[in-house]
Amino acid sequence: MDAPAPQAIHLDAYRKPDYRIESLALAFDLEPEATRVKSRLQIAYDGSPSDLSEAALPPLWLDGDDLKLLSVCVDGTPLDETEYRQDATGLSLDVTSPGFLLEIETEINPKANTRLEGLYISSGTFCTQCEAEGFRRITFFPDRPDVMTVYEVTLRADKALYPVLLSNGNLVESGDLPDGRHWTRWEDPFPKPSYLFAVVAGDLACVEDSFTTASGREVALRIFVEHGNEGRCAYGMDSLKRSMRWDEERFGLEYDLDLFNIVAVSDFNMGAMENKSLNVFNSKCVLADPDTATDADYASIEGIVAHEYFHNWTGNRVTCRDWFQLSLKEGLTVFRDQEFSADMRSAAVKRIQDVRSLRARQFPEDGGPTAHPVRPASYIEINNFYTATVYDKGAEVIRMMQGLLGREGFRKGMDLYFERHDGQAVTCDDFAAAMSDATGVDLNQFKLWYSQAGTPGVTVTGEYDAAARSFELTLSQTIPDTPGQSGKRPMHIPLDFALLDPDGQPMPLKLACEEAAPTSRVLELRAARQTFRFENLDHEPAVSINRGFSAPVNLSIEHTPATRAVLMGRDGDSFNRWETGQQYATGLLLEAVEAGGEGRQTPEALIDALRETLLDEAQDPAFRALALTLPGEAFLADQMKTVDVDAIHIAREKMRGDIARALRDELLETYRGMQSNAPFEPTADAAGKRALKNLALGYLTASGKAEMWDLAVVQSRNSDNMTDRMAALALLTDRQGPERDDCLQAFYQRYRDEPLVVDKWLALEAMSVLPGTLERVKGLLKHEAFTLTNPNKVRALIGVFAAGNPLRFHQADGSGYQFLADRIVELDRINPQTAARLIAPLGRWSRFDGARQALMRQALETILSAENLSPDVYELTSKSLT
Ligand code: TRP
Ligand code: ZN
Repeated sequence: MDAPAPQAIHLDAYRKPDYRIESLALAFDLEPEATRVKSRLQIAYDGSPSDLSEAALPPLWLDGDDLKLLSVCVDGTPLDETEYRQDATGLSLDVTSPGFLLEIETEINPKANTRLEGLYISSGTFCTQCEAEGFRRITFFPDRPDVMTVYEVTLRADKALYPVLLSNGNLVESGDLPDGRHWTRWEDPFPKPSYLFAVVAGDLACVEDSFTTASGREVALRIFVEHGNEGRCAYGMDSLKRSMRWDEERFGLEYDLDLFNIVAVSDFNMGAMENKSLNVFNSKCVLADPDTATDADYASIEGIVAHEYFHNWTGNRVTCRDWFQLSLKEGLTVFRDQEFSADMRSAAVKRIQDVRSLRARQFPEDGGPTAHPVRPASYIEINNFYTATVYDKGAEVIRMMQGLLGREGFRKGMDLYFERHDGQAVTCDDFAAAMSDATGVDLNQFKLWYSQAGTPGVTVTGEYDAAARSFELTLSQTIPDTPGQSGKRPMHIPLDFALLDPDGQPMPLKLACEEAAPTSRVLELRAARQTFRFENLDHEPAVSINRGFSAPVNLSIEHTPATRAVLMGRDGDSFNRWETGQQYATGLLLEAVEAGGEGRQTPEALIDALRETLLDEAQDPAFRALALTLPGEAFLADQMKTVDVDAIHIAREKMRGDIARALRDELLETYRGMQSNAPFEPTADAAGKRALKNLALGYLTASGKAEMWDLAVVQSRNSDNMTDRMAALALLTDRQGPERDDCLQAFYQRYRDEPLVVDKWLALEAMSVLPGTLERVKGLLKHEAFTLTNPNKVRALIGVFAAGNPLRFHQADGSGYQFLADRIVELDRINPQTAARLIAPLGRWSRFDGARQALMRQALETILSAENLSPDVYELTSKSLT
């Protein structure tokens, strides 16, 4: 590769912009292959008045990417080519006056835009995606989040093809034009950065509702979808209204315009986008009905609708100074959507699910070659930093602040943050300062969570002295080295803590130096090693620590069989009840893996604990389903120095079989007991029952009794909802035989015209543990249902195979690796952002045996040697090889 390596951008090189944009007027003449964009920018020099000699005025830099420049005028006079310099990244203008009107006309080709950044066409609808740096693909502009302005947008297009013309803010005027065209004009009164700009134009159906805010503002709510999808908007709409109410109640935050629009599009690089008053959604993240969406889809829609809505305050009203501060809006908004979902559903179940996903996505990232801090210090391509670390670890950082400040203190901090920064572009430090100033809590050491990468390890040991009736708890922490960072400082780690007696009751926690003896505490670990001594304890306690996963760390703690039983069966903290069971199963499974897979018979202690949970009607079925789910293969792999995918699979299947045979009657009883004749409802309660029923079905099919498979076949055919159908099909997909092919074929025939369901069908094939999976995946690339231009299809087939099927992706001959490398190179020419998101599984090479290491590195080299790699793919591939 001869092209120069793309350059990195550094946080500490930040400089304030030289110019302010006082207002922006945009006019679009929308044509698929030649859209004209006229922009009028009122510009003012923003330096200090003492620099205001004409000679000193710096040039004005405008970003631009893939634009055809038609004209540039300053104060009405066209510039000639000596007065500006254009290159592939933008335009530099000489400035002669501290205030001037700049007019620019450009032409773009939305139809050729397969990157889905900027203005593009999805199923005939014009739409935009400007975060992070897509606006520069629409017009020349200082495309950085600290340049905020008010927008006036005029849209002109063919009226028959594009009856709906939308942008941000309020519709102020509209009318007809000659030649069958029409126009609309939009004004957004709130200054915003360019990444929140949006336009949509198409022939769309609209579902309408309304919401009255706490202070009495009547807000029109509209969801725009392709014709035929009107019946799939109800759940998204309901989620939106519940989010609006929740944000008022929890944070005192109201909506601020009279209109809130959501548009569903089928080609989209991510989940959804929070453009001011015009959220654009991947159709997968908003459309649902019982026949096509699973319970997991409903839950994800609820969370994503809330997430984008919550951005109106955390992201839009207060935005980021620069992209290094991305977690300022994303970590905080993920935290907010997690809290919302916890309130709508079971908080305990939600927390367990969030921790599972943190461990599945963020911990591996934090321990791999692309590890970076929540606030990165440098990047080549910002698209690559929309990561689990920035989003999910970022949310954990906010959650820890709430833990340290208390709910009330946290709310005070939020209030102060908005009081200080409404309308501004700010930093993570500004957020922490508001939290600290509102409460007096010192967060200086805590802020290392923003700058130090790597998952801290915390080791817990305890010693009970029966004679002295005291218990000494010792905590120590280590922060692993990560690329570019070593020798880290100890972090400030809040650990929720209790000591349980043999009945699971929390004992009073009296520290040697204190009188107070509460039954739970937050232990604040700040040093590398700290000891806490508790007094007046009549029993050897069971240590319940990091309750609710109060800190995102790897905890190492040993339990005796007796204390484990207390924690697993009786801990009032349901997270730790679940966690202790998982740890126990993990230990046993890893032991079996060491022995090549089969290991010994699953111990009665585990079986008994699982039986107790399975039958415990006092517990939420959703929780019981989680507690009975064994740690996944990827999680087990992460606990190993050298991963053995085959042994992991064998060991886990063996344990599943043991459990299934030992608990067959109870499982069958559960399977029947959780059936319901009521019509499908997407409530958390009903979903929990389905989860437990389908968990039982999974074990039953693993019990070795052939007739159990009949249950799955019947369920896959006769269920009235997608959750049950998919659960049964997923089991059948892993089993060779005629039923498998019949059921999958019937499913495809039934849903071939439903793109979102076809994605599920592709993902089922990609996840199959059967040996021929890679060949089938290759075959499906050519299927009528598949296309590389649609990110959902790419993720369903290629993404799921690489990231969700360790057994087949890592097959020993390396064919899975080479397959992925070839697809990444192919896709990079179409959609770099989506291509780059497929690389991560190859980056984990150092965790595998020598032969696989060589094959994985070879696949990465294949990618790196391709011509004209995008910065997106270049950055992650080159980092993955170091
Ligand atoms: N800001 C969006 C969110 O978190 C996600 C986003 C970032 C995005 N970049 C994108 C969405 C590019 C689509 C395409 O909700
Ligand atoms: Zn977001």
